[in-house]
Amino acid sequence: MKKEIGIIGLGNVGSMLLSKIIEFNIYEENHIYVANRSKEKIDRALEQYPKLNVCENNKELAKKCKDIIICVEPLNLPAVMAEIKPYLSTETYLMISTTMVASKDLLKIHNGNITIFMPTLISLVNSGVTLVYHSDNVTDRDKNIFENILDKISEVVDLDEEDINITQNLTASFPGIFAEIMLEFVKSTLKYSSNVTHEKLEKMLLISINGASKLLIDKNMSFEETIDRVSTKGGITYEGVKVCKEKLPIVFDETIEATVNRYNAIVAEAGSMIDNLIEEDR
Ligand SMILES: NC(=O)c1ccc[n+]([C@@H]2O[C@H](COP(=O)([O-])OP(=O)(O)OC[C@H]3O[C@@H](n4cnc5c(N)ncnc54)[C@H](OP(=O)(O)O)[C@@H]3O)[C@@H](O)[C@H]2O)c1
Repeated sequence: MKKEIGIIGLGNVGSMLLSKIIEFNIYEENHIYVANRSKEKIDRALEQYPKLNVCENNKELAKKCKDIIICVEPLNLPAVMAEIKPYLSTETYLMISTTMVASKDLLKIHNGNITIFMPTLISLVNSGVTLVYHSDNVTDRDKNIFENILDKISEVVDLDEEDINITQNLTASFPGIFAEIMLEFVKSTLKYSSNVTHEKLEKMLLISINGASKLLIDKNMSFEETIDRVSTKGGITYEGVKVCKEKLPIVFDETIEATVNRYNAIVAEAGSMIDNLIEEDR
């Protein structure tokens, strides 16, 4: 059997996976099938990878592929699933790049082999953590297909579905949340500096972050140990750390709460969309 894969949705995640699959030679370009709502993203992909198989629509892709990665927004996923349902079989393996539609709801449409996962755009540089939940039907063969791709570009962490929504703050959402925290750090530093630009501060901070991550990972240092080592009692860092310790828990508690509330709202909305689609189909 030819080694083939299909990708529905060529946005941030779909195009990243496409480029990585080709970069690591996991599937040959002419064995990859793609479908996307707008033609622009297909054209963009074709410019880079002219041998791709372009499908007119998602149905055509589902007819042609058994292993399919779906990378559409959570609230577009129910309609995509309903659209391809007639072409899915027991041999189909779906890898869905969001956990914001519950597996129990997805299984109502296709009671087959479904993996849901939370990738990260950090994988553009072959790093970061991918969170994954495999439904009961997923076989070892399926897991190999999934890991053969995601293991190359990230550390894959298998979690219970309910833990992914909290944990993804530290992985998938991390680049955005982290960027906001660092931006505020730079803005405050800028306020108290005399002759240094925002750009220069951002650059210095990024170099420090890069080095700090490497230091902690390479030397197996915990955050607590690092604080102990860097913030000498009575020194400057000590005073800064004291303020962070007092003020940050409320910020982070509220951040997590806000993301979890939104997560739950999307899961509920997608769930009722699926129930309505099933009802309409009766
Ligand atoms: N971005 C991240 O860092 C990240 C991390 C983890 C998980 N995720 C999840 O991964 C999924 C994709 O995220 P993203 O950032 O790649 O989103 P995105 O950039 O908005 O891409 C979504 C893609 O899906 C296409 N699409 C939407 N409806 C479609 C349909 N009915 N048929 C075919 N294609 C359709 C869109 O086509 P158009 O060209 O028409 O817009 C677009 O190319 C989301 O569920 C998101 O929650 C994202």
